[in-house]
Amino acid sequence: MSELSVNHLLGIKYLNKDDINLIFETADHFKEVINRPIKKVPSLRDITIANLFFENSTRTRLSFELAEKRLSADVINFSAASSSVKKGETLIDTVNNILSMKVDMVVMRHPNPGAGVFLSKHVDASIVNAGDGAHEHPTQALLDSYSIRERLGEVGGKKVVIVGDILHSRVALSNIFALKLQGAEVKVCGPKTLIPKYIEKLGVEVETNLKKALEWCDVANMLRVQNERMEISYFPSTREYTQQYGVNKRLLDDLSKEIVIMHPGPINRGVEITSDVADSSQAIILDQVQNGVAVRMAVIYLLASKIKR
Ligand code: NCD
Repeated sequence: MSELSVNHLLGIKYLNKDDINLIFETADHFKEVINRPIKKVPSLRDITIANLFFENSTRTRLSFELAEKRLSADVINFSAASSSVKKGETLIDTVNNILSMKVDMVVMRHPNPGAGVFLSKHVDASIVNAGDGAHEHPTQALLDSYSIRERLGEVGGKKVVIVGDILHSRVALSNIFALKLQGAEVKVCGPKTLIPKYIEKLGVEVETNLKKALEWCDVANMLRVQNERMEISYFPSTREYTQQYGVNKRLLDDLSKEIVIMHPGPINRGVEITSDVADSSQAIILDQVQNGVAVRMAVIYLLASKIKR
């Protein structure tokens, strides 16, 4: 297969296993490119991409922009904080104004779940979801699986536990879809209040004891508590959260095997992960960031090849 089954990347739930394999094989090629002295290819010289960020971001925005530039696309950046959105313009009007400048692809982060799907139905451009509220974050899940494949050889058959604030996490949902699609076993671990009631319907087991979850898994993906999405308290205090759901070196050294530690960033050092773990060779956090560029290059390249002009 040399083509994606979709014209947009709106969520992992719209992809099939062949799509994921194609993205990974293409990313392997781009990973080699970005490690060359000249890190750029001319593939997308005729493509213009708009990065629309209606929500804060560091890694994801920089990673997309770098991926686009490494492919030689023309890039424009927009952030809601400094735009006419504050003057009351609708999402479709904002995007249509940008598209009238002949933009081919839109990478969008938005606080509302489904914003990407909505946009894909109303505007004539290829849409990449860079995170829609607490819904999906497909490129993060792809780069996470790609990093597991790189470290452990394959994703199928591996045991992955996602730890922390599952309820508010788009990273958790996209990871669950991606890991299950590739045949991994998935558990979630965290305080009951931060685990959605429907989660077992996704073929995922719940383990509230962190030690047991770590003993079971090959990989632990540690999530940040999404305080900005909480209107009430979901646990008594940060200190108590850390005591029960934070990983530290002693916990990992007590396990019968060495596991891989992941984190999508931004890290809260000392809350969900201690510094000695985050900076250890067990952690692949910076590999995830590096792989993010290659994986996003692959996604953009494959979607751009489907644009009819
Ligand atoms: C995540 C996000 O924004 O969803 N970060 C990221 O994209 N690297 C996770 C988070 O904010 O905790």
